[in-house]
Amino acid sequence: MKEDVDISVDFAGLKLANPVFTASGTCGYADELGDFMDIKALGGFITKSITLKARKGHATPRIVETDSGMLNAIGLANIGLEAFIEEKLPVLEKLSAAVFVNVAGETIGEYVAVAERLATERAIAGFELNISCPNVERGGISFGTEPEQVREITSAVKRAAGEKVLMVKLSPAVTDISVIARAAVEAGADALSLVNTFTAMVIDIETRRAVLANKTGGLSGPAIRPIAVYLVNKVYSDVAREHNIPILGLGGIRTASDAIEFIIAGASAVGVGTANFIEPGCAVKIVEGIKKYCVRKKISNIKQLIGSLDID
Ligand SMILES: Cc1cc2nc3c(=O)[nH]c(=O)nc-3n(C[C@H](O)[C@H](O)[C@H](O)COP(=O)(O)O)c2cc1C
Repeated sequence: MKEDVDISVDFAGLKLANPVFTASGTCGYADELGDFMDIKALGGFITKSITLKARKGHATPRIVETDSGMLNAIGLANIGLEAFIEEKLPVLEKLSAAVFVNVAGETIGEYVAVAERLATERAIAGFELNISCPNVERGGISFGTEPEQVREITSAVKRAAGEKVLMVKLSPAVTDISVIARAAVEAGADALSLVNTFTAMVIDIETRRAVLANKTGGLSGPAIRPIAVYLVNKVYSDVAREHNIPILGLGGIRTASDAIEFIIAGASAVGVGTANFIEPGCAVKIVEGIKKYCVRKKISNIKQLIGSLDID
């Protein structure tokens, strides 16, 4: 077989050069990263969550390292919609990777206002709806745990998003993630991303205080990967396959092997988050590693790998 394998993917109508994205909140708005990685080599880029107004986020400390991962309680700190449009969109316009803007808010109206304002921006391929942030009191995860709420917010943002792809980001902190996934798909989601972080806590035993100022934070990194792989496979089997809805798989991906696990489980694309803090260029290496795997396994087109888990 020739060495040229096709690792391009169709993601809700978008033709991506490869299935590797950055994960929201771990790569800023792209301009911070130019010195560390060639973002043009990626299939997609997802911004830090944007809210209507700028947010300072939580007090520090707001990150802490754990065995095989980290906890963060950033609290959706971001520059707000208007500064994003003025300062960051021009940089994002130059990327060949598909740009998704991650949208968050405290009310459905705020999510809608952000999506409406950005719906006609050429630089943007789609939105990732963050209804799964565990670190904010209002909004965030509270929108993502009740199927009725998920339906309401998804259909409202879908109307506001116009022609842009709407991806809904799911929380793992629910009894049955497939119920939430189905609600999002039935309300018009074009794609699903999973997972966001798991609520967790680290305690300093000398002071008997929680290490994070917010007390709890979201656990990410390799520690969550096997759970995330399971949840991707569950959503793929229960909902996404029958509706032909692509999944962006996230959770502890550091290497091409990790990414391939998610793809076999049912993800059409993968996002790299926490690993960027350890090795900022690793997403680009993952693209190359996926290609090598396909050559070694004589897979001419990566689409053959998506959801190919052998269940016999
Ligand atoms: C420091 C940090 C900040 C994050 N900020 C956001 C955010 O603003 N919006 C969001 O939807 N997810 C955010 N996430 C979650 C990631 O996008 C991702 O879903 C999660 O960390 C799992 O992937 P990973 O294990 O590869 O990091 C953040 C994660 C980290 C570690």
